[in-house]
Order: sequence, then C-alpha cells, then structure tokens
Amino acid sequence: MGALSKRAAGAALMNENIMLFACPICATQMQVREQGSLVCTANHSFDVAKQGYVNMMTHAATSKYSKELFESRKAIIESGIYDLLEEKIADKIAGAKTVLDTGCGEGSHLARIMTQLDGAIGVGIDIAKEGILTAARHYSEQIWCVGDLAKSPYAETSFDAILNILSPANYGEFKRLLTPGGCIVKVVPQSGYLQELRAQLYADSEKETYSNAQTVERFKESFAEVSIDRLTYTMPLAIELIPALLEMTPMGWHKTEDTEVALTEITIDLDILVGKI
Ligand SMILES: C[S@@+](CC[C@H](N)C(=O)[O-])C[C@H]1O[C@@H](n2cnc3c(N)ncnc32)[C@H](O)[C@@H]1O
Ligand SMILES: [Zn+2]
Repeated sequence: MGALSKRAAGAALMNENIMLFACPICATQMQVREQGSLVCTANHSFDVAKQGYVNMMTHAATSKYSKELFESRKAIIESGIYDLLEEKIADKIAGAKTVLDTGCGEGSHLARIMTQLDGAIGVGIDIAKEGILTAARHYSEQIWCVGDLAKSPYAETSFDAILNILSPANYGEFKRLLTPGGCIVKVVPQSGYLQELRAQLYADSEKETYSNAQTVERFKESFAEVSIDRLTYTMPLAIELIPALLEMTPMGWHKTEDTEVALTEITIDLDILVGKI
C-alpha cells in the first residue's frame, strides 16, 4: 500500500469509528475531514500521518523509549513467548466490540489479540511516537494514536475492554472510558518475570527480586469484581533473540561491557488483573 493510501485507509477507519473519539483539548465531538484530519466542533485539528496514525498529543513529551526498543519488543513478541498471555486476554474480553490498549507500544499485543475477537475494533494509544509509528507501519486493521493517557482523545463510555499491559495506568481515565459492564485488564510482572535475565544482570542486588504488591493493592481498591490470574511458564529462547531481550526494556537492563548474558530459556511470570467499575 502506498503512503497516500495508508493515510486514506487510516482516516477511513477512524471515520467509521468516529464516535469513539473526543477532542483531547475541549472534549467535543470530532469528525474526519476529507483531506485526512480529525477536527472537533471548536476547530481543534489533528492530522492523520502518512503512515495512517493520528497524533493527538496536546503537549510535547519526551520518551525514554526508542525505535530500537520497540523493534526489539516486536521481535520478542513475534517469537511467540507472549502467545499464552494474548490468548488469556482474548478469552477474558470475549464479546467486547471496542478494545483500547493503553500504552500499546509497537502494537503487536493488540493486533494479535484482535485476531482472536470477531467483529471488534482495536484502538491503541501510546505517548511514544516511535511506538505508534511502528504499529501503524505493520498493522492496518487497528486505529493508532499518539496521545497521553492523562489527556486521552476518546469519548466517555466508549470501550468495552481496556488493556494496560506492562504500562503505567490512569484509573480515573479508564473509568471514564469504559462502557457500563466493560472491563479493565491490567498485566503486571510477578516475581519470576524474566528471572533468568535478572539473575545474570543483577546477581546479589535487590533488583533481582521484584514485588507487584502495591500495584495489585491499588487495582483492588480502584475496581469491583477483581480477579487475579497468575500466568507462569518457561519457554526456550533462541540465542539470536538475546540482544532483543536486553534491548526491550528501558530501565536497568543495561549490561556493562564485561557481562556475558547466556540464556537458553526465559520465564514469563505475570499477574493478569481484571476489574469492572
Ligand atoms: C514497558 S512499555 C509496554 C508496551 C506494550 N504494552 C508492551 O507490553 O509491549 C510501556 C509503554 O507505556 C507508554 N506510556 C507511558 N506513559 C504513558 C502515557 N501517559 N500515555 C500513554 N502511554 C504511555 C510508553 O510510551 C511505553 O510504550
Ligand atoms: Zn476541541
């Protein structure tokens, strides 16, 4: 697909789902103009980029997440190590027709989850433009927005399911955006997450262990009918993927020159929290 048609296709998909949007500046309704921009009733305007995503940031933001980091995440996700997680999430939100992935990064989790849901639209938002660019380049069936969860460009009660996978949350905003009866699915690391890597990089330091207790507690206080499922498994990891594994997270994993990381398998250990309003 050429650059022009990707922009047109992105704008058309946004137009079909325009009721999901609201102006991030004044909260009024939006419409898609022919030339490919989203415009609100007060004339705030956001252009659809040639890659087919829309930038709805209302302020400048710097991101610690680089293009290389997102490409590494994509390679790791495509290796299949998160397939079981994606299947579990798809099960938990079965029947949802509108799904928002908050802090979607390069979009692979959302795109792969959406293949398991019938007749539903997936929307991804991330504050990092590099993530959304990568998402829009590869996945044309979802709507991709650069935006800040603190000032999200969506209308209230729009989403049947909100995903928040290994990303910062904004519970006030999630509650505003959920349809009645909708659910939030938050994924947080458990103590064994990527433990083989942690053990080698942080031997004897407190970063070798990790607790999500505070996050889980806040989630329980914020939502009703909370369920928590722990998903733990160890998968073989191809040696060629080790550099991508090291690159895919921004904080702390940076090995010093003389640390050799040797792994043949990797553990996924996550809590899947599901809640309703
Ligand atoms: C560790 S990454 C996880 C990305 C993706 N969910 C995944 O699992 O591969 C966290 C993501 O949250 C995004 N993020 C952080 N603060 C945000 C905000 N205020 N609004 C939207 N996205 C945000 C970051 O840009 C980053 O892409
Ligand atoms: Zn406006």
